[in-house]
Amino acid sequence: MTLVTYLADHRLWLLRTPATSYALGLDPDDRPRHVHWGAPLTAEQVIDVPALPHHENSSFQVRGYGELEGPGFGAPSLRPRYADGGAGVEWRYLDHEIEGGHLAVRLADRHHPLEITLHYRVRDDTDVIERWTVLRHTGESGPIELERCDSAAWTLPPLPDVRISHVVGGWSSETQLKREGLPYGETVLTSRRGTTSHQANPWIMLDDGTAAEERGEVWSAALAWSGSWRIAVQRPPFDAVGFTGGAGHDGLRVRLAPGETWRTPVFAGVYGTDGFGGISRAWHAYTLRHVLPHPQELRPVLYNSWEATGFDVDLDGQLRLAEKAAALGAELFVLDDGWFGRRDSDRAGLGDWQVNLDRFPSGLDKLIEAVHGHGMRFGLWVEPEMVNPDSDLYRENPDWVLHMPHRRRTTLRNQLVLNFARPDVAAWAHAWLDRLVAEHEIDFLKWDFNRAFTEAGWPGHDEPDRLWFDHVHNLYALIDRLRADHPHLRVESCAGGGGRADLGILARADEVWPSDNTDAVDRLAIQHGYGQVYPARTMAAWVTDSPNPLTGRSVPLRFRFHVAMAGVLGLGGDLPAWPAAELAEAAGLVALYKEVRPVVQHGGLFRLGAPDDPVSAVQYVLGDHVVVLAYRVRTRFGHPAGRLRLAGLEAAARYRDEGTGQVHHGAVLLAHGLHLDLPAGDYASTLIRLTRLA
Ligand code: DGJ
Repeated sequence: MTLVTYLADHRLWLLRTPATSYALGLDPDDRPRHVHWGAPLTAEQVIDVPALPHHENSSFQVRGYGELEGPGFGAPSLRPRYADGGAGVEWRYLDHEIEGGHLAVRLADRHHPLEITLHYRVRDDTDVIERWTVLRHTGESGPIELERCDSAAWTLPPLPDVRISHVVGGWSSETQLKREGLPYGETVLTSRRGTTSHQANPWIMLDDGTAAEERGEVWSAALAWSGSWRIAVQRPPFDAVGFTGGAGHDGLRVRLAPGETWRTPVFAGVYGTDGFGGISRAWHAYTLRHVLPHPQELRPVLYNSWEATGFDVDLDGQLRLAEKAAALGAELFVLDDGWFGRRDSDRAGLGDWQVNLDRFPSGLDKLIEAVHGHGMRFGLWVEPEMVNPDSDLYRENPDWVLHMPHRRRTTLRNQLVLNFARPDVAAWAHAWLDRLVAEHEIDFLKWDFNRAFTEAGWPGHDEPDRLWFDHVHNLYALIDRLRADHPHLRVESCAGGGGRADLGILARADEVWPSDNTDAVDRLAIQHGYGQVYPARTMAAWVTDSPNPLTGRSVPLRFRFHVAMAGVLGLGGDLPAWPAAELAEAAGLVALYKEVRPVVQHGGLFRLGAPDDPVSAVQYVLGDHVVVLAYRVRTRFGHPAGRLRLAGLEAAARYRDEGTGQVHHGAVLLAHGLHLDLPAGDYASTLIRLTRLA
């Protein structure tokens, strides 16, 4: 398959993926124009694509979205401002390069010393198209100010109606899926918090209002960036829908110095015809093949001490927990917050990364040895980008935090944000983390980030807005360097729960902590939203105590396990307080999880209903193996659960139910479903395993 073709006579580039194509062209004025994103087209067909109305460029129709546009009337994708008071761009085509599936189209401004390269990458194993942009100041004097520089702008074909899917939330309620009509005008999804955020996540899905879980056209895009971001969607009344997305929120400015280049993160897009489920599977497969550092590894069952002990950690307590966790089958033991400095609560100690010798009198090694002795790996909580004002680090380096002259320094969770854009701060963080990992046998870091940026200034620096970008670049470089120097190290991304889940962090984190909310019922909705783009193998999920410490809800152990088994199973409760019968049941469920884990973590996901349905389920398919986890939160009217129609099976094949030994035709399971033998009462759940017979 030729991935990229240049049709010189028509000044068109045609990009192909296994099941879609994408095309862009140059208009007579050399402006790059969107041509097609959707079903596969041949070269002959793409030449025939009618120009979108805004190609006509009547004085009222010029708008901001197409390929990556400069001037227009929509929220700009690109907004350079020049020293002479001018702004925007007038493109002149320079050249292009094609290397396999990578296309780079180079353009320059007709007057100002600004060059842009639009990058596209397509592959033969995914329908995801990666796009990013590189700007270069080609002059010798005077900066060019960038008021906006998105990664890509995407355009949809004309649709009779448009619906948007995205996630919203907050702390303890992340990734709540919303699917609603797209309003006319502009819809902006954004984070101004310096991190990806709990409130929104940088991806969207668009459809014409008729797509369903397993059928219908869907266009989707996701930004690989862990700082502030903006996706602006435009729905004009008589024109195609488009959207633009990139790093940074509105109002940030960056000055490009002569000779300097500015590279944006990837804003990837994917189109498919198998509904939202198909799009999710496309994102999952792409993340597996092209994003995650060790995609093939099965994620271990971890135990984390946070919900059991809070800040009250010490050697004896952790040893007791480790023993219990190992007995249940945990493979990784994570010591959470409270092991360092004077960290008795969230009010002090953050930044002082020396082991607290009152709590661990001979350091961490005794605990690490015991954990390893139990056959578990050892993980440790860190929050390198933060500091408590009540810490030696802050007393010695008060200028290291984000701050502004004459402004109070707002504390959130009693902490301030270290300015990671400062090379000295990033170097300090690298030095202590590198030492920590080198001097102890640490296999895993839980990397936390518990507050948003405020008073994000950098006194003395002539370009303070840079910090919004450089913080993220330096964070990425630090994790990448640590991982390169300590190849055994695995990383979990956490930001007060799910505040930092995105394709950027997933290139350097093995899993994500999607929420501090471990209530199994709430988790169903959180996991439903998380899994729209991010795969189960990155979705950490702990079984903790009942009643749940956050919500007070009591849920049976089996239901709690079945919810957590839909992702990367973990344990997080006060195990010594669990009754013996529950410990025995838990050990059995951990063992069962290990058996189904390859299918859950590496299989294709089919969502069978949504969490609010009377019965919902998730189904994973890997080769001949199928795992279904079904949930009924609330029993109603005494009606039986009935049958659950499965998806993604081979109609002509037969499947054996490993629980009952019964053999079913794939066609029947698809058309009529499987009888669900759910126990009576609320919080009923079941796990079903099917094997395709030869
Ligand atoms: C927030 C995290 O989400 C929790 O799991 C825990 O690690 C605390 N921080 C520790 O302070």
